[in-house]
Amino acid sequence: MNMTATVRHFLDISETGSVALRQMIEEARRRKAARSGMPALAVDGDAPLAGYALAMLFERPSTRTRVSFELAIRQLGGGAILLNAAETHLSRGSQGESIADTARVLSRYADVAMIRATSHSSLLEFAEYATIPVINGLTDRSHPCQVLGDLMTIEERIGPVRGTTIAWCGDGNNVAHSFIHAALPFGFRLRLACPDGYGPHPGILGSARTAGANVTCHEDPDDAVAGADCVVTDAWASMGDETEAAARQERFHPYRIDQDRMARAAPHAVFLHCLPAHRGEEVVDEVMDGPQSAVFDEAENRLHIQKAILLHCLRRRLP
Ligand code: CP
Ligand code: NVA
Repeated sequence: MNMTATVRHFLDISETGSVALRQMIEEARRRKAARSGMPALAVDGDAPLAGYALAMLFERPSTRTRVSFELAIRQLGGGAILLNAAETHLSRGSQGESIADTARVLSRYADVAMIRATSHSSLLEFAEYATIPVINGLTDRSHPCQVLGDLMTIEERIGPVRGTTIAWCGDGNNVAHSFIHAALPFGFRLRLACPDGYGPHPGILGSARTAGANVTCHEDPDDAVAGADCVVTDAWASMGDETEAAARQERFHPYRIDQDRMARAAPHAVFLHCLPAHRGEEVVDEVMDGPQSAVFDEAENRLHIQKAILLHCLRRRLP
């Protein structure tokens, strides 16, 4: 039975209402402040997910998403089960198990699932057959949990993101797509500078613009960055694009974030990178480790925002 309609997934920022998105950032901010100084495994005072289990399924490697989701559910009073897809029956091809049956089975054990999927279509198929909420922990198309944490980080540094200008330089990838999805509900201007042929998916860009998002594309990365409140970049070759990494070096080099480029942004501008970073490629050490960089706050905030996402998905199921 397909019970998707009764389940609150978190698959993309574009599919989540702006009120709920804002509430998630506020919830994350409140919980972060409330547990200042507490050890990592101490449970939040209200333990709202006591007894709840999160199943985490990874088809790709992860450091931040894996650790932040596990600690998030534990700090909310629950527990996590980690599945590497390569060690499950998913990996056995025609002799193995389908995504749909994996979703049905995990739904009988766990209360919520988080998936990092090689292909967005796998995430959608999993969500279609799961009877528990499903969270997108990154696909080839989007990385919504990352961008919610990024917006929380910008607001910690410079205040409300509404009305600000965010510049994205580099690959028009999954993280860029989630920034495009976020531009309208959060009310920021997004300027993209991507090498020719490496821009965002035209459908994602077109839908956002049609809905009213202020997203512009710039040939010159310096134009995108000029006066911006936040400068963001990411790996030139994402997971799955590794074979292209060498070929991309020359094309992407002009989009690198160095001190000269950061100096073109507003004096208070924040530098973000979802990590892992390739120091000396898309960003130089002086920017990564400089005073404008918030990359490790950004990594930390993944933990706090995951808690808000888990609560968003499960709140209507709580007693
Ligand atoms: N930023 C991010 O999602 O990192 P991981 O790949 O380490 O999870
Ligand atoms: N765009 C990167 C993000 C990693 C967190 C990738 O997909 O590899």
